[in-house]
Amino acid sequence: MAARSVIRSTGSYLPQRILTNDELAKQVDTSDEWITQRTGIRARHIAGDGEPTSFMATEAARRALEAANCGAADIDGVIVATTTPDRSFPSVAVQVQSALKLKPGPAFDVQAVCSGFVYALSVANSMIQTNMARRILVIGAEKMSSLIDWNDRTTCVLFGDGAGAVILERHEDDDGRGILSTHLYANGDLRDLLYTDGGTCTTGTAGHIVMHGREVFKNAVTYMAEIVEEVLDKNHIDANAIDWLVPHQANLRIITSTAEKLNLPMDRVVVTLDRHGNTSAASIPLALDHAVRCGDIQRGQMVLFEALGGGLTWAAALLRF
Ligand code: UT7
Repeated sequence: MAARSVIRSTGSYLPQRILTNDELAKQVDTSDEWITQRTGIRARHIAGDGEPTSFMATEAARRALEAANCGAADIDGVIVATTTPDRSFPSVAVQVQSALKLKPGPAFDVQAVCSGFVYALSVANSMIQTNMARRILVIGAEKMSSLIDWNDRTTCVLFGDGAGAVILERHEDDDGRGILSTHLYANGDLRDLLYTDGGTCTTGTAGHIVMHGREVFKNAVTYMAEIVEEVLDKNHIDANAIDWLVPHQANLRIITSTAEKLNLPMDRVVVTLDRHGNTSAASIPLALDHAVRCGDIQRGQMVLFEALGGGLTWAAALLRF
């Protein structure tokens, strides 16, 4: 059997500052009740000046290294999924590489917005399976607050900052563990449903998030239902083989709809968006790290990741943890 890639360890970082729904209700015409009922979000973390994306990514990676008892010399490469890099270039990944004193090797960013972590995981998995690397840090890190128009109630209540990381490593044992399949999609015709109205090449500023929420919501429900079906078909398994769903944390109603489609009770779905809102590419590794550290997700269990974001992009991965 060909070697697989396993998640050896996880780590995460959330900024100190917590912004609650009630605080936001003092700034824009919204309420804790509206935000909680429509999204499930209660609070989000907001990065300070000393916490750029590269810092959060590095801290999450440091915790994953500690959890794996790995040193810098054990890591062959770094892939960071982010849509909010500190600068256009260099990448966040090379900043992490330098901060952690890793040896020279591949280091680059992946930009697929909220699906970015699953895209990055898929790329890292391919590199490991083709013997380009043995152990790769895969990180999702975002400073979404840098893209927020704080006067726009339709978006400012949704997003937050943070980072999550995993160490993905080559696994030779024939014990069924590892990434079983990854599924990546985009439909650029839907790019105007969710975008920033600026960009470093066009305006010199990063711009603000613009979202046609209802349309994104409908597409998310449809595409997530389709992609989980594809995952089950490809792996010849029933939904009841899945121990944990770790979804992108954008809206509790989207998550519930996917869980219902899988007939999965909500106590097998990892939900952390109440505490940190939508952290884009960071949301799956943040949720995963939480579930691993509190002992919910155990070695050998079947775990499904799924996400949808700007582009539109959407993606899923099935793995035996
Ligand atoms: O991570 C990337 C993927 N993103 C997503 O998956 C997000 C997908 N979309 C959503 O999660 C939801 O569409 C939202 C949470 C963004 C919005 O929820 P909704 O139930 O679709 O609300 P809506 O946009 O249909 O707006 C309903 C009402 C509107 O008022 P009227 O026109 O009915 O009078 C909005 O103006 O709610 C109003 N509204 C708000 N009210 C209080 C919109 N935002 C707010 C707010 N507070 N923050």
